[in-house]
Parts: sequence; structure tokens; C-alpha cells
Amino acid sequence: MMPFTTNQPLIQLNTFGISVNAKLFSEIFSEKDLTTVFASELVKENNLLVLGGGSNMLFVKDYDGLVLKISIKGIDVLEDGDDVLVTAGAGEVWDTLVKFCVAKGYAGMENLTLIPGTVGASPIQNIGAYGVEVKDVFESCTAFEIATGEIRTFHKADCEFAYRESIFKGKLKGKYIITSVTYRLSKKPKLQTHYGAINAELERRGITEPTIADVSEVVAAIRVSKLPDPSTIGNAGSFFKNPIIDQPVFEQLVLQFPDMPHYPAPDGRVKLAAGWLIEACGFKGMIEGNTGTWKNQALVLVNHGGASGQEVYRFSETIINTVQQKFGVLLEREVNII
Ligand code: FAD
Ligand code: EPU
Repeated sequence: MMPFTTNQPLIQLNTFGISVNAKLFSEIFSEKDLTTVFASELVKENNLLVLGGGSNMLFVKDYDGLVLKISIKGIDVLEDGDDVLVTAGAGEVWDTLVKFCVAKGYAGMENLTLIPGTVGASPIQNIGAYGVEVKDVFESCTAFEIATGEIRTFHKADCEFAYRESIFKGKLKGKYIITSVTYRLSKKPKLQTHYGAINAELERRGITEPTIADVSEVVAAIRVSKLPDPSTIGNAGSFFKNPIIDQPVFEQLVLQFPDMPHYPAPDGRVKLAAGWLIEACGFKGMIEGNTGTWKNQALVLVNHGGASGQEVYRFSETIINTVQQKFGVLLEREVNII
């Protein structure tokens, strides 16, 4: 049985680099480990937090409960005609899996290069970047049901994927621990290069017939130019979601702010760029105590060193209130507040 540790420091286990401790902590290497842990009385007596790479969390206090860090490893490949089914343990590092697939010529994930975190968290908020979301390659996942200890399979249609949303963040929140994910990739690439600066960067590099490795490299380069590296500056990526508003509200707003970036969203609604709204309020690159926004991307809140989670949270409240006053748009946090 895996040992429980007490008063475990989490500073190395969250990319914001917030210094908090967990009352109890255990690392999970297999489904059997989960069964063992859940047979223990300690589980029944304590709140539970499932931890992957800690790259979408802000700890605002010590965790008064049991943290289970998911480190289930393994990558399996099953060829299916032109398709390839790749199954990875929930604890595999997402970008390691992306690099593995790109190297093998399995297409579909290349636009999701360099997103931090684990495979097991990829369906939770349906990670997305550069015109692709994990739902586009998601086949199924297996998950441990906390109430019964049974392993259940969820297929794509079960998961209620939407922009930064899934059933695991919604009505099944806290009920399942994802243990593995299967992705459906293809040996015949259909490249998605229309989004953002991908085409421009390919052109700049003189690449006219890009491979998935080219797309992966270009996405990595664009990301590095915009986003702070958590190993040097603590952060959790976009702190807020891009807000989705109704068309009539948008039409009023765009009269006042004609330069405002906007994108079509489902059901005739309109998605705005939270980073633009925040920058327009004067927050870009602002330093506020030990926290602030990133100089190249106002949507990313950072820890300049020694920030407390409370400090970052309070700063995020100031941003929400200011954006609400200027634009009448309510920003919702993407990062999980723990
Ligand atoms: P954690 O932060 O550990 O957990 C996130 C949530 O998932 C928590 O609620 C946790 O309880 C739950 N969870 C984790 N693992 C499991 C599991 N096995 N079973 C059940 N629940 C689980 N996200 C994007 O979508 N697109 C981006 O482009 C992007 N860019 C980023 C850039 C940077 C620099 C950073 C720091 C973050 C970025 N993110 C992005 C956010 C983050 O990388 C993703 O949300 C990622 O999926 C989080 O994975 P994790 O393993 O670190 O999850
Ligand atoms: N913008 C500004 N100022 C800023 C930041 C952005 O004006 O400070 C403008 C940009 O010029 C652009 C628009 O806002 O017109 C969108 O910016 P960007 O392309 O950088 O993307 P984003 O909407 O800020 C989203 C995701 C990212 C993902 C990128 C690329 C959300 C909340 N964020 O960011 O995901 O990597 O697109 O696809 O949807 C994350 O979720 O953690 C994350 C990093």
C-alpha cells in the first residue's frame, strides 16, 4: 500500500508556485492503488482533492484533507485502418504524449502542443488551443467511481464537452477519478492552420507543405512568445475564460468598442477575448505586490515570487470588477480555486 504523508508541501506540485500544505497526501500509480486508498478509513473522514500537474489550480489556503496525486503511467497504441487509438494513463504528462504522437506521425493533437498538465485532466475542462479542443480527438476514458470503487467507461457522447467544460466539471464533479484516456488519431493528417498566427509563422519559416511536426513546432514557438514558463514565473495559463455573450449585447458593445476581437460561438452567441478586455482596462503587465498580469498576455495572472493564493485571488476580483464596470461583461475564472 502507498504511504500517506502528512503536512505535505504542495509548492512544487502547483504551477502557480503557491506555498501551501496538504494535511494528507498520497500518490497513485495504478487503479489497484485507488482501491487500496479507498478501503482506508482516512478517505471517508477527509475531503478529497484529485491532483494532476496542478497547472489549472490556485490554492488559496492549506488543503485540509487528502490530496491524491495521479501518476498512473503507460501509453498503448492500437491501429484501426487509417486511424490510431492511443490510450494513455491519466498520470502521463500531456505534452509527452503529444510529442510521442507527433513523432509517430499520428495526427490530431499537434495544435495542443506544450499545454501543461496530465492526460487525466485533458477531458476535465476539454483543453483547447489554436482551433482544436481535446473533444476533437477524444474517444473514451476510464474512470474510478468514488462512491462504488467501480471502473466505468465514458464515451465522447457521454462527456458533454463544450468550451472549457465537460460533465466532469459539471454534474459529475468530484464523483470520478479518470484513470486513462483513449484518443482517436489519424495517419492521414488534416491540418488546422487557420487559427491565430500559425499560417503567418509557417510562411515566415518558408514552409509551404507543413507536416504535423511543423505545426507542432510553430504552435510551441507562438506559445513560448506569449505565455510565461511556469518553471520560472508561476502561473496557471489563462486565469479567466473568454466570455460568451448574447448577440444583441454584443451589437451594443461593438458600437462603443469597434476594435474589440470577437468570434462566433454556438447558438448564435459571440465569444470575446478576455485578454483584450483586461488590457483595455489598463491591467496588462501590471505588477500588484507579488502578483500581476503577464506583460505579453493580460489573461495570465502570475506569481512574481512569494505570492499567496489570497493575494492572487484578490487581484482577480479587482480585474473582474473593473471589466464588469467598463464593459458590463462578467468574467468567469477558468482556474480552479482550491
Ligand atoms: P490539475 O490542475 O492538477 O487539475 C485540474 C482539475 O482537474 C482539478 O479540478 C482536478 O481535481 C481535476 N483532475 C485532474 N486530474 C484528474 C483526474 N485524473 N481525474 C479527475 N479529475 C482530475 N489549458 C487549455 O485548455 N489550453 C491552453 O492552451 C492552456 N495553456 C496553459 C498554459 C500554461 C503556461 C499553464 C500553466 C496552463 C495552461 N492551461 C491551458 C491550463 C492547464 O494546462 C490545463 O487545464 C490542464 O489540463 C491541467 O492539467 P493538470 O494535470 O495540471 O490538472
Ligand atoms: N489580446 C489582447 N491583449 C492581451 C491578450 C490578448 O488584446 O493581453 C487579444 C489578442 O490580440 C487576440 C485575442 O485577444 O486578438 C486572443 O488572444 P490569444 O490568441 O492570445 O488567445 P486567448 O483568447 O487569450 C485562448 C485560450 C488559451 C489558448 C489560446 C490559443 C482561453 C481562456 N484561453 O487564449 O488557453 O492557448 O487561446 O488558442 O480560452 C488556457 O486555457 O489556459 C490557455 C492558455
